[in-house]
Amino acid sequence: MTIPRLRGAALATVTLVAVGSMVAPGSADAAPGDPAAPRYSAGAASVGDPYFPDEGNGGYDVQHYDLNFSYDPATRLMAATATITATAMHDLDQFNLDFRGPEISSLTVDGHAHDFTRDGQELVVTPRPKLKTGQAFTVVVRYAGVPGLITDPDGSIEGWVPTDDGAFVVGEPQGTPAWLPANDHPTDKATFRFTAKVPEGLTAVGNGQLLSQQTRDGWTTFIWDSTEPMASYLATITIGKFEVTESTTPSGIPVYVAVDPRQVAGSAAAVAQIPRMIDFFSSTFGPYPFASTGAIIDRAPDVGYALETQTKPVFSGSASVGTMAHELAHQWYGDSVSPERWSDIWLNEGFATYAQWMYTEYNGGASVSQTFNSSSNYGRAPSSSFWQIVLADPGPEDMFSNIPYNRGAMTLHALRGKVGDDTFFRILREWASSHRHSHAATADFIALSERASGQDLKAFFDVWLFQKGKPTTW
Ligand code: ARG
Ligand code: ZN
Repeated sequence: MTIPRLRGAALATVTLVAVGSMVAPGSADAAPGDPAAPRYSAGAASVGDPYFPDEGNGGYDVQHYDLNFSYDPATRLMAATATITATAMHDLDQFNLDFRGPEISSLTVDGHAHDFTRDGQELVVTPRPKLKTGQAFTVVVRYAGVPGLITDPDGSIEGWVPTDDGAFVVGEPQGTPAWLPANDHPTDKATFRFTAKVPEGLTAVGNGQLLSQQTRDGWTTFIWDSTEPMASYLATITIGKFEVTESTTPSGIPVYVAVDPRQVAGSAAAVAQIPRMIDFFSSTFGPYPFASTGAIIDRAPDVGYALETQTKPVFSGSASVGTMAHELAHQWYGDSVSPERWSDIWLNEGFATYAQWMYTEYNGGASVSQTFNSSSNYGRAPSSSFWQIVLADPGPEDMFSNIPYNRGAMTLHALRGKVGDDTFFRILREWASSHRHSHAATADFIALSERASGQDLKAFFDVWLFQKGKPTTW
């Protein structure tokens, strides 16, 4: 699903190509002089995000992913059928999906079997008949084998991470193609359904709502439905032995929490506060953007981080109150409003970190100002390496370092001081509402802040986002 702004841009491009049809290359199918004749070309192999140049593809827009699979932790074998429903954005004679998963046994487009090629992350499909602009089409990919890990520029791992009782499934920023063919970039959101068959005794926990759970012949099948659009990096279907508790928040949002029995004691305080966190953030940032909430608390020691997987963040170890607040705040900032480019990561991590500071204050801990001024934040010496990276473009190796998190949150606190509380919280709420279930860029945030405050904030944001060095005046 593409936001109207991008859809408009894509259609504008199509119009231009059609007008130029007599001279543009690849026009073998166009009747000369007939501007309405289809003009087929290959969808781009990338969306052009410089941090992850293989990520995403052009030429189509995914509406829905349906993944039906079995997984046996004993053998680590997955057998899967992925059904992807998409719309052609221009006349397509070829398009790519991002896929690093196991061997493909068959691939069809609208029921026609097709050859395909694989080159690294690129799964190249040549649909016949070709696809026309605006045409809906369905790709079915069958594959089986052992899904793998992806190592990030900062050395951390993601993808399909085997655990001692199942698999820990995380995909930010590039892990989802390890197990699902996807248009793997946050600018193309879609709805998802997972049908996961796992050995009886294990639970498969996915995003969204549990539609059914059935055991037969020693296997249990779970169907999870994500009804709001989701970026592929936020998908999870984590498998293991879990204690499950279901409840509702005071305002009526269903809560599904799955905890590895070994993490129950260490996570009890964080789990108990989920409803309170959702209510606090709803009153501060605006309505919770999804139909359900919860958490998945697993044991994946090699991962060592949590992720804000949509509706149910995942934790690779026991969950602290602060990290739970951070991951739940991401549901507004990161999940519903996703980054347009990975260089915009401070819009995710800075916002979630600021929300975490606010929750600490709300809970009677350090005030936000105290945290801003602490030795791990503004208290750092000007010579610290903490100040030597441009916040609006930290680079793929530092995108999950403390820079986007802490300097991002400090930027928001400085903005709050600059525009005042009323305007600041109006900005945060409008950011969540105007880009709900979509994506946005740093320039959009600057524009919103200027519009809402009536101030020229160029110099302010220049100091905080675009310059190296510790800000001194702003
Ligand atoms: N967004 C996650 C969080 O803030 C961190 C993800 C880290 N990912 C990674 N591949 N290192 O909780
Ligand atoms: Zn985060």
